[in-house]
Parts: sequence; C-alpha cells; structure tokens
Amino acid sequence: MRILVTGGAGYIGSVVSKLLLERGHEVVILDNLSTGHAAAVPPGAKLVRVDLRERAAVKALLRALEPEAVMHFAANIQVGESVRRPLKYLGDNVRNTLHVLEAMLGAGVRRFVFSSTAAIFAPSQQPLREDAPIGPESPYGESKYLVERILCWLGELAGLRYASLRYFNAAGAWQGLGEDHHPETHLIPRVLRVALGQAPKVQIYGQNYPTPDGTCVRDYVHVYDLAEAHLLALTALDGGSRAYNVGSGRGFSVREVIEVARRVTGHPLPVEICPPRPGDAPWLVADPGRIRRELGWSPCYSELEQIVSSAWEWHRAHPHGYSEEKDQGE
Ligand SMILES: NC(=O)c1ccc[n+]([C@@H]2O[C@H](COP(=O)([O-])OP(=O)(O)OC[C@H]3O[C@@H](n4cnc5c(N)ncnc54)[C@H](O)[C@@H]3O)[C@@H](O)[C@H]2O)c1
Repeated sequence: MRILVTGGAGYIGSVVSKLLLERGHEVVILDNLSTGHAAAVPPGAKLVRVDLRERAAVKALLRALEPEAVMHFAANIQVGESVRRPLKYLGDNVRNTLHVLEAMLGAGVRRFVFSSTAAIFAPSQQPLREDAPIGPESPYGESKYLVERILCWLGELAGLRYASLRYFNAAGAWQGLGEDHHPETHLIPRVLRVALGQAPKVQIYGQNYPTPDGTCVRDYVHVYDLAEAHLLALTALDGGSRAYNVGSGRGFSVREVIEVARRVTGHPLPVEICPPRPGDAPWLVADPGRIRRELGWSPCYSELEQIVSSAWEWHRAHPHGYSEEKDQGE
C-alpha cells in the first residue's frame, strides 16, 4: 500500500515507517519537524514538510498522493503541558486531526490508524480493558478521546475504516531509531540521561500515590512491538473499525524501572523526590487480551530489562540524540 504517515519523523512514527518499508509498503511522511528529526526518517521514505495546521496544504497533499491509508501520529504529546496550555491540545490535536480526516474523505481515502492513548481512561480497576470507564485526567487525554468520538461518527456516517490504538508507555529503541524528545518527559530516557552523566539525579514525581511503593505504575511496551500492532491493525481494517489497548499487561512502578535501569547501566542512579505532576494517573496498565485474540499480536520484547537495554544501547550510541547526526550531515 501507499501509506501517508503523519509524524513519521517522530519516535513511534519513524519506527512504524521503517517497518512498513521493510514489509514492502510505500511510505510518505508528513511532518513539520517541530519535535521530530529529519535524521529519524528511514531511508526509502519520502519526507514532505507540511504543518497539519495548514488545512489547504494537507488537502492538496492528500489529493496529489491518493494514499491507500493514513497513519496519524503527529500531535502534541505532553500530559503536563496540556494542563498548563489546554487549548494547544484541545485545539491543535483535534483540529489538526480534522484537517487530515477532511482531506482524506475529500480524496476518497478511507483507511485510518490513529495514535490514541491510555490517558483517555478514568482511574479505575486495572488492568484496563477497552471497555473500562473513560475519563481523561488531562486535556491531552481528552483531545485523544474527542478524536475517538469523531472517528466513531465518521465510521458510521462516512464509511471511514479506523483503528484507534491506545498506547500505554512506548519505550525502547529499534534498528538505530530511538526516543529523542525535547523536553523529555518519559521516564526511561530521563533515567538513561542520568546514567550518561547528563543529569545529576532521577526525579521521581510523587511518592504518595495509592500504589505498592507510592510511585506511579505504568505498562511499558517496546516500540517495535507497538509498530507490529500498527501493521496488524492496518491489515485488519477492511474487516471493520476497532479500538485496541496496546500494552504488555504488566505494570512497573517508577522505582522498579529505576532498579532495572541500575542493573542494565551499572550506574547507581541517585533519585530526588519532587511534587507530583498534574495530570499523572497513579496506575495505567493494559489488558491486551483483545488485540492478542483478534489480531494475534504478541510482543517480542516482553521483559522490561530487554526494553531498557535496547534504549540504553541507543542512548549510548546517540548521547545527544539525533542532533549529532544532523550536525554531521551539515
Ligand atoms: N510516546 C508514547 O509513549 C505515547 C503514548 C501514548 C500515545 N502516544 C501518541 O503517539 C503519537 C506519537 O508519539 P511520539 O512519542 O512518537 O511523539 P513525537 O513527538 O516523537 O512525534 C510526533 C511527530 O509529529 C510531528 N508533528 C507534531 N505536530 C505537527 C504538526 N502540526 N504538523 C506536522 N507534524 C507535526 C513532530 O514533528 C514529530 O515528528 C502521538 O500522537 C502521541 O500522542 C505516544
């Protein structure tokens, strides 16, 4: 298939693009490089620099390209920032997705894979199945849920075939592609920066959550396994629209992740306790039963140690992220 990947210069989108190319698909990446990196665009993919806020440009691209499917990763992704700047999320994330959907339907494109999130769920009994109570704790989560609702309507009324993949915490690196966000809000890369000597301590945001050791519990899924979920979801689209929770099914507290990282890196990783971050839920752990049953998804990297090791390998090889590669190319 010819596939348009929005946000394909970002962390997850670049890995999915690379896997799509490996499986023989044609990949065109739409990205404004606001948080992504040209160096992350896999060889063989074409990069088109467009901002999704530019409705006419998005429309023109879809019309010219006539892709068979769109995978939509591009978004503002920081939970904490969304609490401080709600309209950046409730506005941009929703409006930009509408631009993509409107352009798709105008060009007769009906297959859509959407990067949703575990942050759409209300705090409730874990692990979370797809039908767990919805109740986003942040404008970021709300923006993703609003898009899911829009998809539902367009599925019913406009013939859209979509898969909403609610990712839990993507982590790890694959084939030279890793996580390089600025600022970095995700735990594993922040921990590894301490191991690299780039930060003095690992900050733990809150230690009085209702969890066994008081720190937040998350479900980490390797970015390669997440990418496989996208390819399976794409193939299944013609059979109907669906939503899947994509996680390993196992939860690790912040302290447990740091302990694993100590073993992997051999660094003592001193910690500093900081106030909780607004918008952070205490527990987010997936029940991946549906995607396993319906699509046969089965993670290759099921151990946290494997996930942290792959990230550590990447961060050691790219201590300054992708910026070094850009410098070398210039
Ligand atoms: N990383 C995670 O653990 C996680 C968890 C749940 C959901 N998600 C979702 O997955 C998607 C990808 O996450 P990521 O970690 O790869 O993020 P990322 O920031 O690495 O990638 C996002 C990409 O989108 C591009 N982009 C952003 N706004 C744009 C715009 N207006 N026009 C064109 N391009 C734009 C950026 O330049 C970047 O390349 C996001 O939608 C995010 O909400 C991620």
